[in-house]
Amino acid sequence: MIDRSRLKQLHTLEEERFVARTSQSRELFEKAKGVMPGGVPMSWMTKWPGKYPLFVASAQGSHLVDVDGNEYIDLCLGDTGSMTGHLPEATVAAISAQLKRGMTAMLPTDDAVAVSAELARRFGLPLWQFTVSATDANRHAIRFSRLITGKSKIVVIDRCYHGSVDETFATLDASGATVMREGNIGAPVPLDVTTRVVEFNDLAGMETALKHGDVAAILMEPAMTNVGIVLPDNGYLKAVGELAKTYGVVWIIDETHTISVGPGGMTTELGLTPDILTIGKAIGGGIPTGTFGMTHEMASQISKKSEREVIDTGGIGGTLAGNALSLAAMRATLTEVLTESNFKKMIALGNRWCDGVEAAITELSLPWHVNRLGARGEYLFQSDAPRTGGEAARAGDFELEQYIHLRLLNDGFLLTPFHNMALMSPYTFQRDVDAHTSAFRVMCQELVS
Ligand SMILES: Cc1ncc(COP(=O)(O)O)c(C=O)c1O
Repeated sequence: MIDRSRLKQLHTLEEERFVARTSQSRELFEKAKGVMPGGVPMSWMTKWPGKYPLFVASAQGSHLVDVDGNEYIDLCLGDTGSMTGHLPEATVAAISAQLKRGMTAMLPTDDAVAVSAELARRFGLPLWQFTVSATDANRHAIRFSRLITGKSKIVVIDRCYHGSVDETFATLDASGATVMREGNIGAPVPLDVTTRVVEFNDLAGMETALKHGDVAAILMEPAMTNVGIVLPDNGYLKAVGELAKTYGVVWIIDETHTISVGPGGMTTELGLTPDILTIGKAIGGGIPTGTFGMTHEMASQISKKSEREVIDTGGIGGTLAGNALSLAAMRATLTEVLTESNFKKMIALGNRWCDGVEAAITELSLPWHVNRLGARGEYLFQSDAPRTGGEAARAGDFELEQYIHLRLLNDGFLLTPFHNMALMSPYTFQRDVDAHTSAFRVMCQELVS
């Protein structure tokens, strides 16, 4: 439906538009190339659309300003790291107060107790531990699962993402075997040694994977969010939980992105009972943090198998884990920013964004689909909702995505660089959403004309 040579022409125009309005970013990028590989602080940032990334001058609420003074409506929100909106007042106040009392001492503060109690109230798991990232929370959950079960393999969902966790960069090949994912850098061992991959929404596949008797844990998001959004079939998640119980496998749910459905994520929304729950990003209001919660049963088994004398060298840790600053940030973010009433507002905006995008797609008969996950919305390039990560990945269109992201960036909207996701914060305005809807419609019209 979209003429590819026209798409290339349109993209060239957007590249020119980008270069013409971002001279300060370009200048910084030229300097950056001399001191950072690819001119970016982290290699994947080369994926941002345009010949170089924007350099940020400031960000507040749902808006971001680059070093050239261009203002953007931020629908990326640090890929959920700033789902609270940039500089949420309560979090900033708590951080500012904590800065006068010390940042990290490798000892607990009273905030650790308050945050654990609040996490327990929200997610239903009684006991909590802290890390500096969601990646670390997942890594630690996997290690503890191996300790508890004495088994080695981890089951993950095809096309999942849980941070830079070695065991998760596996996929299914055409014959259904577990193989290394394309682009996996420096894997320590072949992935079929550590991992078994199953498709999302495939209960029979899950049972086959568990039947081998060598699985320590299932690590999964309750809805996939990193290959576009893939929603669970009715009853799928509870059935996975039952299978985990039947086969004596630890069920780990990663709510890092799916917290977009409400204060307790999909776990609370759907009444799920994981053994371990991991989360990071948004709950620190922008300050690095991660955490994992567990049942009393898990904690008691871990405790029986851990030795105090060597507990600091057991593969679980992080010098800055549980630091005073991130706990102060989490306490304020959880109790005053990511509240029930703010979620109501964010979810209403998420639906408004999805309605707007859906209306343009329908009007222009584009074979695209919009999926909703509370405050998060996403479109993908096939007409029906995907049921598996594999299906969603096959609907990917890198060339088209790069164009859309650059075009919308030039129009003043920041989307995640990875797929077509938009996220709402408590500081996002209805007019931000409506402005995106208008720009999106015009862009689609030009694409098909
Ligand atoms: C579901 C999920 N879990 C974990 C992570 C890792 O988060 P971080 O990079 O903050 O460690 C991500 C990052 O995108 C994620 O999407």
